[in-house]
Amino acid sequence: MKQKGLFVSFEGIDGCGKSTQIKLLRKRLVKEKRKVIQTREPGGTPLAENIRNLILHTHTETVSKETELLLYAAARAQHVSTLISPNLKKGVIVLSDRFADSMLAYQGGGRNIKTDEINKLNEFATGGLNPDITFLFDLPSKIAAIRMKKAGRKKDRMEKEGIRFQEKVRRAFLKIAASNPKRIFVVDAKLPVEVQSEIVYAAICRVSRITAE
Ligand code: TMP
Repeated sequence: MKQKGLFVSFEGIDGCGKSTQIKLLRKRLVKEKRKVIQTREPGGTPLAENIRNLILHTHTETVSKETELLLYAAARAQHVSTLISPNLKKGVIVLSDRFADSMLAYQGGGRNIKTDEINKLNEFATGGLNPDITFLFDLPSKIAAIRMKKAGRKKDRMEKEGIRFQEKVRRAFLKIAASNPKRIFVVDAKLPVEVQSEIVYAAICRVSRITAE
């Protein structure tokens, strides 16, 4: 069945500022009285949030990269079937802090799992659902690390992987963006927050006009 809503994902390495941008866009759309929900991956439903906790805060044993991959996929399957798809069908704008591209960048680029395997798993977990538009907030990993330190954020298991890992993930994200130029907008995350949010809003207006036609 054709989706009526608009599905928007926000991507980037840890500390790139995407969560600030998603909040700003949601506020603006709510002000315009548009039907919008904000969600995140891993997470977004009670079960998927429990899986998030397992993935990001298991420190008592080593988590294998295969286990990690499957847990992210399980959280995504639940998120799509119980939250994202039903809302899209109702015509809601769904803003998701991360989606399937994160798996290609982190488990693919970061953990060296083959792209074909990840694509197959994502297809299974999402039933082939893709965002209508994705914003990739690009930032050198060194700057992201400084920002996170300044904010005094306690690091989760993924963030503890360090700058070299984050830089591998960043390069993978840029490669994914280059292969999907119609869907993915790369935003320079070094720009002031307000400038980034104007870029995002302008792109959303263009895309919603296109999908409304
Ligand atoms: P967050 O800090 O942006 O909420 O994201 C949680 C972490 O999970 C972040 O380090 C990226 C990572 N992640 C993956 O490795 N694979 C995935 O498929 C997703 C959705 C997130």
